[in-house]
Order: sequence, then C-alpha cells, then structure tokens
Amino acid sequence: MIPTVLLGTTAIPNGGGELRLTQRENDFAIQLVGVTGDLMTSRMHSSEDALAELGCAHLRGVDKAKVLVGGLGMGFTLAAALKATTSSTELVVAELVPGVIEWNKGPLGECAGRPLNDKRTTVHLGDVAELFRTQQPIYDAILLDVDNGPEAFTHDNNSALYSVDSLHMIRATLRPKGVLAVWSAWHDPSFTKKLKKAGFDVSYKTVRAHKGKGSKHTIYLAKL
Ligand SMILES: C[S@@+](CC[C@H](N)C(=O)[O-])C[C@H]1O[C@@H](n2cnc3c(N)ncnc32)[C@H](O)[C@@H]1O
Repeated sequence: MIPTVLLGTTAIPNGGGELRLTQRENDFAIQLVGVTGDLMTSRMHSSEDALAELGCAHLRGVDKAKVLVGGLGMGFTLAAALKATTSSTELVVAELVPGVIEWNKGPLGECAGRPLNDKRTTVHLGDVAELFRTQQPIYDAILLDVDNGPEAFTHDNNSALYSVDSLHMIRATLRPKGVLAVWSAWHDPSFTKKLKKAGFDVSYKTVRAHKGKGSKHTIYLAKL
C-alpha cells in the first residue's frame, strides 16, 4: 500500500480555515481541511490547461498582452497561459493563500514546470477581487479558477465574486476584445444568465479532466 504523506497545512486568510498539501508517490493533492474531496490534484489537469488555452486563444501572436490568472493552485493554468501567449505578454497570478505560493516554490512547483520563475509572471498576494475594483481596462484575458465552480468553496467571501455586480466590475477591467474564462466542475445555466446580465457574450465548452477521459468540466467563455 502506497502511503499518502502530509506535506503541510496552511491558513486561509480572514478566518477561511486551512488548506492541506499531501503527496502520494509523484501525485500531489490540495484539500480544504474538514471538507471531503480535493480542491486540486496534480494527476488530472487537462481542464485547468484548457482554461488558459481557450481563454487566451485570441492572444496568439499578440504583442504586449496582459493576462490575469486567479488563483495559483498548482500552477497548471498559469503554465498553460505562459505557453499560449507571446514573450512580451505580462501575466499576473492572484493567490489568496500565502502558503500556496510557498508550496509552489518547493517540490510542488515541479508539477507545472515552475511557472512562477518565468520573468513574465508577477504575483499578487491577496484576493483576486481586489484587482477588479479599479474598473479600468487592463486585461486582455482573465482566467478564473478560485473555487470548484461559480460558487464559494475555498472561502465564503468568494460567493460575491460570481454576482452580477462583480461580473460588471470584472467586465470593466477587460480591454476591447477581452475574454473572461471561468473553470467549473459542473455546468450551471444560472451562471450563463448572470454573465449575460453583466453584458457578456457567453459560450461554454465541455472539457475532460484528463487527456480526453474522466469527469466533464465546463469552461465559460465570456466575451465583450
Ligand atoms: C482550484 S485551485 C486553482 C488551480 C489552478 N487553476 C491550477 O491550474 O493549478 C484554486 C486556487 O485559488 C486560490 N484562491 C481561492 N480564492 C481566491 C481568491 N479570492 N483570490 C485569489 N486566489 C484565491 C486557492 O487558494 C487555490 O490556490
């Protein structure tokens, strides 16, 4: 029997509980302490990659683009966004939990090829929602995967992120032709309605968790 090893636990800010990092052979998992199921595993990340590939498809060959990735997790979406964009693209990754950034500087960082070390990457340590308050057109793509879908999971405060008011604010931070892409473990038609209410042109793609197999996940693509 291959043992699962606890590598560490870390606090989620603002009374959000704790995250736990475990390793079994070469596979890592991040879980919310006290909640059944994984927030993220390293074994299956095709849909996290697809979030970046679909959300940045319009940026192929585009110079000086700016992409916001929220949150870091195991860095797969960030790594795929680095791959999908040009060498002059700036990528900001917003991560709420300081410990997650530290874990990515250790052995966990190998999983996605250490995207934090890329010179195009900068880290915003804090709530991704803070970056939407400017309501200035800054980003060409926003890739959002902070919960398991468009409802709070990692932190209760995240529920506000998916409201029509917040989606309006997010929309205001996109440049012309900008795209908001949101990862979800399920398809939620009410989220499509909210995106439309906030003025987006909305489509969605169903993608598999692992190389064309496994659970079906949804990527919402909301365009200006
Ligand atoms: C499901 S994981 C992201 C997985 C990531 N797409 C990947 O490829 O590894 C969610 C991440 O978002 C972070 N997070 C949760 N709420 C956040 C928020 N409001 N702002 C920024 N990061 C947040 C979590 O700490 C966690 O690291």
